[in-house]
Parts: sequence; C-alpha cells; structure tokens
Amino acid sequence: MSGSTGQPAGQTAADLRSDTLTRPTDAMREAMAWAPVGDDVYGEDPTILALQSQVAELLGHEDALFTPSGSMANQLGVRLHVAPGQELIADDLAHVLRAEMGAAAVLSGISARSWHANAGLLDVDAAMALAVTDGGAYQVGTSCVVVENTHNFGGGTVQPLEAMRELHRRAHERGMAVHLDGARLWNAHVATGVPLAVYAACADTVSVCLSKGLGAPVGSLLVGSRAHMEQARVWRKRFGGGMRQAGILAAAGQFALEHQLERLADDHERCQRVARGVAATRGDAVDPAAVHTNILVLHVAPAGWSASDFIAATGERGVLGYAMGPEHVRFVWHLDVDDAQTDHAAAVLTDLVSQQA
Ligand SMILES: Cc1ncc(COP(=O)(O)O)c(C=O)c1O
Repeated sequence: MSGSTGQPAGQTAADLRSDTLTRPTDAMREAMAWAPVGDDVYGEDPTILALQSQVAELLGHEDALFTPSGSMANQLGVRLHVAPGQELIADDLAHVLRAEMGAAAVLSGISARSWHANAGLLDVDAAMALAVTDGGAYQVGTSCVVVENTHNFGGGTVQPLEAMRELHRRAHERGMAVHLDGARLWNAHVATGVPLAVYAACADTVSVCLSKGLGAPVGSLLVGSRAHMEQARVWRKRFGGGMRQAGILAAAGQFALEHQLERLADDHERCQRVARGVAATRGDAVDPAAVHTNILVLHVAPAGWSASDFIAATGERGVLGYAMGPEHVRFVWHLDVDDAQTDHAAAVLTDLVSQQA
C-alpha cells in the first residue's frame, strides 16, 4: 500500500487526465446499436440528419454538420472564414493554436497570431489591438477571431457573456468573423444557466463536442448558416471526414444530450470540492473562485514540485492527471468519476501539496 489513503500502488482509482476518457454506458451502446443509418456522404443518414437539426436548433443557427472530431469542426470553421494567406487570431492558450498540430497552416494555408490571456479569459481589447484589418498589400489581414468557451488550458474558464458579445460586435465592425470553439460550451451553459443559443449568437460558426464531458465515444458538430454548412460539407469530404453509416455515432450523441447534459453539474461540484480542499491546505496552489467548471489546474511549483514529479506521485496513488508545462498540473472531472473517487483524489492531492517535495 502507498500513502495515507489506502490506495494500492499502481492501481488507477481516478483517471482525471481528461474528460475524453469516458466509455459509453450499456444504455448508450444499446441506443447506438439500433440507430437507423444510411450513407451520410449522400446525406442519407437519418440519425445524423436528426442530430444536426437538433444541435442547430439548440444553438440557434440555421444548420449543423457532424464531424469525426472537434479539431475537424474547428478547422472547418476557420477554413470558411480565412482565405489562404490571411490570418486568424486567438489567445495564446487556445486549443486551435496549441493542440491541432498546425492544421490551419498545413491544411488551409492560414497563418496565426495570438494575444496573451490570463487563464484563457477573453480580453477583447487585446484581441482588437492585435487584429490587422487595414494592412493593404503590406500586412497579413486578420479575417477571423477564435474564442474558446469553456477554455481548456485556461482551466475550464467560462467566458463572460458580455465580453463575447462585445467581441462579436467589434469584430464584425471591422469585417472579421468570430469562430467559437465550444468543445465544452455545454459546461459553460450548465455552470451559468446562459442558454446555449445565447452564447452561440456571439459567433458566426461554433464547434461543439459530444466526446468530452457529454460522454459519447466520437463526434462533434459545426454549426452556422446554411450556406456555410454547404461549403463545410465539401471541405469535410476534402479533409477526409466524410463518413458513411455513422448514425451509430450520432445516436450516442443524441443519447448524451438527452441523458448526460444536466449531470455536468455533478462534475463541476466535485471539481470545486477538491479545489476547496486543496486551497484550504495551500492557498497558493489554486484559487477556488477561478475554478468555474470541471477542470482543476494546480500550481505545484510553490510547494517545490515539478509538474512531472507531482503527476508521477499522484499516479502512484491511483490518481491520474496531466502535466501542463513545468509548474502546472491538470485534473478533469467526467462521467466516469464518482464521489468516492473524488474523495480519494481530494485526499491524495491535498496530502501531496502539503508536503514540500
Ligand atoms: C477546447 C477544445 N477544442 C477542441 C478540441 C478538439 O477535440 P478532438 O480531440 O475531438 O479533436 C479539444 C479537445 O480536447 C478541446 O479541448
């Protein structure tokens, strides 16, 4: 046995590396197995068509397009707004810049610049100061601003609605589009009660993921105008994302929206509980007020830990997390983490931050 919590060494008690780790439940598998399907490249999969209509309506846009991944939905979104040789701008922790393997440059010839964002929080003045919309034949023109809500590497940060509205208004005034990376827009909606469509009205295109906290195994959607979705359908095929009888996957998304959306509040409550426990022991590791949803980022350097040593130590006690740079670690709550696992994680994290490494 290792540590004071009684977790056998090496055994996984709580896998908090990401909310992408969830496995489909038996009920979800049942719903998938019997979904009506057709060839979606021909536009004939009834389950995909139904899911696209449902999500377009939820988000208050004209149409939606099912994609294999959130990265593809984002890349389709920016491709619609930015011509080759033009640029997108986003904050310096944005998923579209940090974790999509340079896809905008490689696939679409798009260049990118970033402004600095504290914990991923949207800074409209910084975005507007960075944008170039009158560069003529000398400077690269900015065609699109990307905003992420909630913000993954920022620590599950919910963007203030007023800031999103202001970004949309000021971007449009200068002829730029806004793409919202809403992989976890569901979490923002559940945390604040702001309707999904109200957030989505602040953008020209929005990506949402079914395979994060919602617990579906695969799938994302891009939403926007009918004309944009028609173009995106062509680009999806060109990017290799045309799928055939993928209604089986869309059925998992329908099931998740019906049964596993409101429960995101449980993930938020568990994450907050652990944040408070850790902060009570070491206030410089985390500010619980900055923990908005299901993602806990701890600053472990003040306790003398490197992120990699800290993650190794939690892993030995069955709590898996992710090292975010040299000083910060991330733990993410999801469908497959219950109260007992949360209590165990709280005990392990609190114990380790209280020890000087
Ligand atoms: C904010 C954000 N956007 C987009 C994605 C991409 O999703 P996928 O892994 O399905 O490509 C992720 C994945 O974690 C994410 O966190």
